[in-house]
Amino acid sequence: DSTVTVNPAVLGFTAVPKSQTDLVTVPAGYEVTVLYRLGDPIASGVAAFANDGTDTNYAQRAGDHHDGMTYFGLSASGSAPDASNNTRGLLALNHENINQSYLHVGGATAPGGIRPESEAQKEIDCHGVSVVEVTRTGSTWAYAPTSSLNRRITPSTPMTFNGPVRGNAWLKTAFSTAGTDGRGTINNCANGAMPWGTYLTNEENWAGYFKRATGDVAARGGAGTKQNVSLARYGIPENRPGNYGWATVVPASASNTLFRRWDITVDPTKPADGTGDFRFEAFQFGWVLEIDPYTAASVPRKRTALGRMNHEGCTAGRMIAGVKPAFYMGDDAQNEYIYKFVSNTPWVAADATPTDRLATGDKYLDAGTLYVAKFAADGSGTWLPLTFGTGPLTAANPTYAFADQADVLMNVRLAADALGATKMDRPEWTAINPANGEMYCTLTNNSSRTVANTDTANPRAYTDPKTTGGQTNGNANGHIIRLRETGDTTEATAFTWDIYAFGSGSDLNATNINLSGLDATNDFSSPDGLWFGIPTNVTGLNTPILWIETDDGAYTDVTNCMLLAAIPGKVGDGTTKTITNTIGGATGTQSTRVGKAPGTTLRRILVGPKECELTGITSTPDGRSLFVNIQHPGENGNPAAISSSWPATQTGAATGSSRPRSATIVITKTDGGVVGI
Ligand code: FEO
Ligand code: CA
Ligand code: CA
Ligand code: CA
Repeated sequence: DSTVTVNPAVLGFTAVPKSQTDLVTVPAGYEVTVLYRLGDPIASGVAAFANDGTDTNYAQRAGDHHDGMTYFGLSASGSAPDASNNTRGLLALNHENINQSYLHVGGATAPGGIRPESEAQKEIDCHGVSVVEVTRTGSTWAYAPTSSLNRRITPSTPMTFNGPVRGNAWLKTAFSTAGTDGRGTINNCANGAMPWGTYLTNEENWAGYFKRATGDVAARGGAGTKQNVSLARYGIPENRPGNYGWATVVPASASNTLFRRWDITVDPTKPADGTGDFRFEAFQFGWVLEIDPYTAASVPRKRTALGRMNHEGCTAGRMIAGVKPAFYMGDDAQNEYIYKFVSNTPWVAADATPTDRLATGDKYLDAGTLYVAKFAADGSGTWLPLTFGTGPLTAANPTYAFADQADVLMNVRLAADALGATKMDRPEWTAINPANGEMYCTLTNNSSRTVANTDTANPRAYTDPKTTGGQTNGNANGHIIRLRETGDTTEATAFTWDIYAFGSGSDLNATNINLSGLDATNDFSSPDGLWFGIPTNVTGLNTPILWIETDDGAYTDVTNCMLLAAIPGKVGDGTTKTITNTIGGATGTQSTRVGKAPGTTLRRILVGPKECELTGITSTPDGRSLFVNIQHPGENGNPAAISSSWPATQTGAATGSSRPRSATIVITKTDGGVVGI
């Protein structure tokens, strides 16, 4: 492709207006291709998708709720990697969750309180990960339905545990009595593209899938025991059925434990070490999972050195030869933390093209130091090491007695609590600016942020006067924080920070809420997906494009969720502001550090269809094909009251009964140019 010169670097499209239509809208000169939809077959012999609830065999179809995604270039034929190929590649993408009712003819059923095996099997198989071959012929993208490189990873796929927690007592189940193996992955949210050619997928809201019966706290020795303290901290109290009731299934094969395993209630007739039941099954989830997308038969590895949490995503920092690389992560729940893992192993450039990709993952991801972030009001911050035997991370800790490093990693939220890390407004995606190494993190919103517990990095708590539905209290619109490592090195244990942008309607109070001066071309709420695109063959673009996707509950009375493009500045380019927070009768001030108002360097490039979230973003290396996921359009509807018919609306195929489908789309320019500039 020919080289494009951009000088000065500016966004080259007209902002699209906010929209509530059932379409993906893009600027003039841009095109949308619907590429890979819920139910699309990925193996030969699989029937075309009927989309009426009768379909089966989802382990050989696209799953639901497309989320994090990475494009991996392929050679012109075969399965060898070619990171520079713009016309043939593998898309690895997550299927986070399901729109349950649309998967069945008349919605989900549970006669007598028991879920039918066939329904539960479909729901389980709709979760996990897809790896699917995609090709561009001329200007047209398509996926390859019968490629031998296609793969589905589901909550039932065998995988192994690596790192310090492998073989731990709390990983033992009736399936893996040694605590070394597991089955599957669930609620896979954002992604990570490793520089050695693998895909990271991150287990986020896994806790909700587990049933735990009343009496289980007593069966584990009462509320103060380590198991109960841990289960409570990770959100698994007793007396709950688990999402979708999968554990109620009575399978046709009595030896099939893939439904039973979702019930962690202690079976008192089984051994206390957990090898006879699934009392420890919930500890097998909450990890980062590494997949080799180029090897369809490879067994994925859970990387326990990166800790157990509601993993949103995991993004590699800049890779510099001879320097220990860092991997940045958010724990997405209210008042949780931002983490980074620093490998023990300095980067070797030749590892970018290894012969054994998962062994390279072993080298960089199985041993290192996990840190949690603490932000200070003067604009500095520190990375606190989560290392057993240091500070409060010992057996003497009064809240939770840590036994060893594996215990710290398994219960890293309790360890981060003990260190006094900063409780954030729901850390979602992380992104690294490749031009300078600065790390950005979306803090999507936090309805539990009160005036009294604001801090300098989570400074807003207010009642949105313009929002009548959805979330109206706390930090309703979210913000994007960024930090610069001391010495610009991934090995740093200190940093400086500011807030790149605050989400807000452009009509809201400029002194206390619309702190970044957003206008009608770029106002947004609840930032979530976040990624720096690095188009090759572009000169003058000294700061790559930052893509921002929204998952909003506060601004949907005005617009559907959206994608924005930005050419951001850098940490410290703005000013310190003191804002006044108000919720009900409570009022207080908070000082914070606000980046330079983005103005025309931030612009809305796409608005999604009804009830969707924009999430997942990747591109070909030349930046001319941008892949984006439309997650759960029509999620508030059901077969009897369909609330969106996207993507049939986009392709002109909609009928009154078209059910919505999550899908991957491709954004291109009609002139074939680089998307965004
Ligand atoms: Fe799956 Fe926090 O979004
Ligand atoms: Ca998210
Ligand atoms: Ca979200
Ligand atoms: Ca979602």
